Amino acid sequence: MTSTALLTTAGPRIKTQLPGPNARRVLEADARLISPSYTRSYPLVVKRGRGVMVEDVDGNEFLDFSAGIAVVSTGHCHPEVVAAIQKQGGELIHMSGTDFYYESMTTLAERLSKVAPMKGPHRFYYGNSGTEAIEAALKLARYHTKRQGIIAFYGAFHGRTMGALSLTASKPQQRRRFAPLLPGVTHVPYPNVYRRPEGSDARQYAMDCARFIEEKLFKTTLPAEEVAAIFVEAIQGEGGYVVAPTEFMQELRRICDQHGILLVVDEVQSGSGRTGKWWSVQHTGVEPDIITVAKGIASGMPLGVTITRAEIMDWVPGSHASTFGGNPVSIAAALATMNVLEREAIANAGEVGDYMMRRMKSWAEKHPLVGDVRGRGLMIGVEITRDKKAKTPASDLRDKIVESTFERGVLFLGAGESSVRLSPPLIVSKEQADIAMNVLEECIALAAK
Ligand SMILES: Cc1ncc(COP(=O)(O)O)c(C=O)c1O
Repeated sequence: MTSTALLTTAGPRIKTQLPGPNARRVLEADARLISPSYTRSYPLVVKRGRGVMVEDVDGNEFLDFSAGIAVVSTGHCHPEVVAAIQKQGGELIHMSGTDFYYESMTTLAERLSKVAPMKGPHRFYYGNSGTEAIEAALKLARYHTKRQGIIAFYGAFHGRTMGALSLTASKPQQRRRFAPLLPGVTHVPYPNVYRRPEGSDARQYAMDCARFIEEKLFKTTLPAEEVAAIFVEAIQGEGGYVVAPTEFMQELRRICDQHGILLVVDEVQSGSGRTGKWWSVQHTGVEPDIITVAKGIASGMPLGVTITRAEIMDWVPGSHASTFGGNPVSIAAALATMNVLEREAIANAGEVGDYMMRRMKSWAEKHPLVGDVRGRGLMIGVEITRDKKAKTPASDLRDKIVESTFERGVLFLGAGESSVRLSPPLIVSKEQADIAMNVLEECIALAAK
């Protein structure tokens, strides 16, 4: 790890009661003015960030193991990313790639093409967020195949706009009172091997989940030739950091090949180096037809990218576009982010992730509240259960743990019904990982009392 990437080795420093006086002022205004649909887990009012640290409006310093929901891959305000944003901001902020041309749109496409998880040539669609990358994939899958059916998985999170929401199936509140959603979407079981039926074999269970599609769905309610695409996360993110076994992903690929269905892998949260490889699907050897990218690719600037095998992106002018998609400042941030990721951060994610997993694997035996620890690279989930044998999800205890780590100056977020997610910036050091793991372990032990 070079010193340029590691901006601070300092741990948390909490000086005021939380929330402090300045934070309380902001919280009061927020409660009056801002949409109550947001889901804040604790009252953190952020003022600035640097590396793996953020400072709140009262001068408290936190170690950020959320990375702004798995976004700031190169850390907060990486100097190379900041310089690229400032340079581009002084030159050109917007003209619109839908009606005009920017050279940087093709420069980034060429860079991404070199690291895409499927053989080229490729084509690229630019949007501004994960949900937009999914919308583009969804529309394109229907356009290209001239089929309507879409298969997605229970536990999936693909975004909140109406199309993406129709695929999302991780919490009822995300869908409540928004129906009718997109017709033609069918959800099927995702292989959460931790929660497989008691006594069953993990590999067999994973294969059964994939085979359900062919052996049940296609033979009863959904003719295979009407299915345009299967959307899948190789590691479910919002669903709880659940890793799909390799055999399952390979079986999905086989089913898609056999029936002319597109395999769309959502890499919005798990991609951009977070798992120690460029894309989480690369751990399985499976080549998707389409991937969706956002979050970590531009270190916090809004950018979504839909990457396809070139022949799939056959829609004609006017079929799909967005005024801001592929904004030059976001693209400049993405190019600088790719430099840092390729130079050091992806390798660091693999190394520090392995280091953390070596320590945390024993937690499931050691801590009465920990049912499972799983993940790849710096995408690690800790499942909190009330009763280890019955695997009862303990959302309240998980929330309590996340709140008490905040009070000790380390930021985590929940994921799924009862998991704590660890998703720090990819430049995190082993020393910082130790501080975070110490605090998390302490809070898990306290919650058990
Ligand atoms: C896997 C996945 N897909 C899509 C999205 C939606 O991304 P956005 O919030 O940028 O619209 C998310 C967001 O958490 C995600 O984790």
